[in-house]
Amino acid sequence: MKSKSIGVLRTSTIVLWFAAMASIGCGPQQAAQVSQTPASSTADLMKQRGLSEADVNAALQTYTPTGKKDEYITFASGGHGGNLIVIGVPSMRILKYVGVFTPEPWQGYGYGDQSDTILEEGSRFGKKLTWGDMHHPALSETNGDYDGEFLFVNDKANPRVAVIDLHDFVTKQIVTSTLIQADHGATFVTPNTEYVVESTQYPAPLGGGYAPIEEFQDKYRGAAIFWKFDRENGKIDPAKSFAIELPPYMQDLADAGKLDSEGWVFINSFDTEMAYGGNLEGNPPLESGASQNDMDYMHIINLRAAEQVAKAGKTKKIAGMDVISLDTAIEEGLLHLLGEPKSPHGMDVTPDGKEIVVAGKLDTHATVYEFAKIKSLIEQKKYAGKDAFGVPILPFEDSIRGQVELGLGPLHTQYDDKGNAYTSLFIESAIAKWSIKDLKVLEKVKVHYNVGHIVAAEGDTVNPDGHYLISMNKWAIDRFSKVGPLLPQNFQLINIASEPMQLLYDMPLPLGEPHYAQMIKADKLKPIDVYKPAGYDPIKDEHSANAVKAKEERIVRDGKDVNVYMTAVRSHFTPDIIRVKKGDTVHLHITNVEQAHDATHGFTIGSYNVHSSLEPGKAVDITFVADREGTFPFYCTEFCSALHLEMAGYMLVEPG
Ligand code: CUA
Repeated sequence: MKSKSIGVLRTSTIVLWFAAMASIGCGPQQAAQVSQTPASSTADLMKQRGLSEADVNAALQTYTPTGKKDEYITFASGGHGGNLIVIGVPSMRILKYVGVFTPEPWQGYGYGDQSDTILEEGSRFGKKLTWGDMHHPALSETNGDYDGEFLFVNDKANPRVAVIDLHDFVTKQIVTSTLIQADHGATFVTPNTEYVVESTQYPAPLGGGYAPIEEFQDKYRGAAIFWKFDRENGKIDPAKSFAIELPPYMQDLADAGKLDSEGWVFINSFDTEMAYGGNLEGNPPLESGASQNDMDYMHIINLRAAEQVAKAGKTKKIAGMDVISLDTAIEEGLLHLLGEPKSPHGMDVTPDGKEIVVAGKLDTHATVYEFAKIKSLIEQKKYAGKDAFGVPILPFEDSIRGQVELGLGPLHTQYDDKGNAYTSLFIESAIAKWSIKDLKVLEKVKVHYNVGHIVAAEGDTVNPDGHYLISMNKWAIDRFSKVGPLLPQNFQLINIASEPMQLLYDMPLPLGEPHYAQMIKADKLKPIDVYKPAGYDPIKDEHSANAVKAKEERIVRDGKDVNVYMTAVRSHFTPDIIRVKKGDTVHLHITNVEQAHDATHGFTIGSYNVHSSLEPGKAVDITFVADREGTFPFYCTEFCSALHLEMAGYMLVEPG
């Protein structure tokens, strides 16, 4: 199979090369003058480029000829870039950056009225935020399987959750609550996307107030927020969302139960020592203070029961959110703790929902918990004790099926379609493949270097696909050409269907540190081609009240407000002259009236920080004060047609 495909490549390469040479009017001899090293055969190419047969085999598994499409789409967090990165697999071609927590100029995201409202609603304490620390994307699910409709993602630094509609790959909503001051266990969805989970990382007084850090144990708290998703509206409904107060441990990653464990939520934690640093004040640094205990706690939340308690109104309002207090959570049996070996990190429910895999950063094992055992211990009220806040602790030994020794620094686990698990080993820079049933390591593949999260095809669903896994490596030293002290991250594509696993491709990711990703079968996504009919407002998700039709273009002055109703079509804006007076407020209402696929225009007025993307059928509103007199050209920023440069006009701002 392998040698046959190379044979095919060789023949076709030669045929194509001769065809190309013939078409530019030169034979092989003249061609030799053009290029010293014509690509005459695969064997020659391999020799010239120093490629082994394994390299060529890997290349053939990822190379995607022009016009061919990828089998999977990966949605990766853009880390500090605050945007979402859409990547084709196996080609590892970047298809799109979606503006989410950060203004994104290409899409005009954050440069017009509609998208400004999205970034505005993500303000905290009245401060508009122009960056985010994006961590964990979660695709919407139906019966525990990705359905390709929506994607949720969190901002760890400014705890927020965004909703991206995959019908047009546009961010439609950002929600935030000042209840918490940093998140990490976000976003994770329940199997039918009823709730999007966001839980704290660093405890703080709930609601954002001040309390002396010495009162950490009394006044500081964590919380888990359950954002209610309204699929019909494509939006989170904050009024139907609620939270549970948690002890001041540093809650970490989370996962929602599925199938057998549906209706439950599991959240890791570290710093159950409740250390808070103070290394200049005679205390141990936070990192060592937080690493004293042999066990930290898994938080087990009965979400179905919690929902009933919240609906019954047994909550208090904090920062506008209905919060179930820690005491109520204990009284109502909503919260249990369970020991987890040293500084746990990954929290991954198995595809059948029967087990939970937790890996401890400072332990060499992954621990496999059985949900049935956990549930039975809760029902029997069989506790090993209680924590300082009175939360019952389940006995560790009675909750687990076993442990598997994986290697150094195990973090995150993904699953395939054959009953295997894959766990990233941060310190060892490797991925361990192991049998869930036998708790035995089957093999390891080295990665480069310091892998954090990994993502397998449909790896968080009830039906993982296996096939591909991406190792999301934090360090990239010696892998790419040098670009100064700030290096890209390295995404490494691995074929996990082959035995042994095969490293296929290195992809530098140079925009923020991506944390996590999810990979969906490409044919599950059904995005639209154009907004139909023309005049659609993608942010409000409705036909725009300000949509403009051809021949209805106009400029309407109302006092100092000037409304410009403009259309864009290849290759002109109408109107192409806008006359205003200094001090006027200009309201641009621009509709791209085209319905042809990919006939996108852009719009900018220089020096006014105005930019918009006008995809076919899209309507945008842009408001600004013409506070500087002068002559300001405006033009189309997308190379839309042969007369793209002529798609321009003037805004004339007369002295007031
Ligand atoms: Cu329209 Cu360029």
